Amino acid sequence: MALSNSEGRLIWLTGPSGAGKSTIATVLSERLRATGNKVEVLDGDEIRATISPELGFSKEDRNVQIDRIGYIASLLTRNGIDVIVSAISPYRSSRDSALARSSRSFEVLVTAPLDVLIDRDTKGLYAKAIQGEITGLTGYDDPYEEPVGSHLKVESACLSLDESVRLIEEFLSLEVANA
Ligand code: ADX
Repeated sequence: MALSNSEGRLIWLTGPSGAGKSTIATVLSERLRATGNKVEVLDGDEIRATISPELGFSKEDRNVQIDRIGYIASLLTRNGIDVIVSAISPYRSSRDSALARSSRSFEVLVTAPLDVLIDRDTKGLYAKAIQGEITGLTGYDDPYEEPVGSHLKVESACLSLDESVRLIEEFLSLEVANA
């Protein structure tokens, strides 16, 4: 199938809480806008606060969340808008289905070792999990299925924010080289 460049790109950032997905999404969106692209960011926390308030963190609920995000993303990409998703999206099959709804999809694993995530603990979730106040925290006592196949891995403990964003931009530019 010929690549239609009137379609927007779907850049799906997946990985554990605190790995840097939202921060990278914000900076990347600014960079893409600065080069004339229309861009929307779909952030897991924001989607949960607006259209998914009834969802928890069971496998079923997380998959519904991912399905909704994939659907919204497809509405935007088919209208020429680049979409950056930042959501843990821990289950491979629901992620794959969501990515397949858009024709120009890029999967990016944003990750860091568990001890680094526990150290950062930007939302205090790891401390709560360690103290037994919450259960089912991805990567701590809940599964995370890493992508397989064509994807980029951004190790945020080893890279600066700027380096992480540049790496993703390079990954996006490979599409042109492959087309
Ligand atoms: S997903 O697994 O369904 O893709 P999503 O990205 O939407 O997750 O939401 C994750 C956010 O929910 C985290 O950034 C965090 O703020 C919050 N959260 C609360 N409890 C949990 C939990 N048990 N596991 C993961 N995230 C949680």
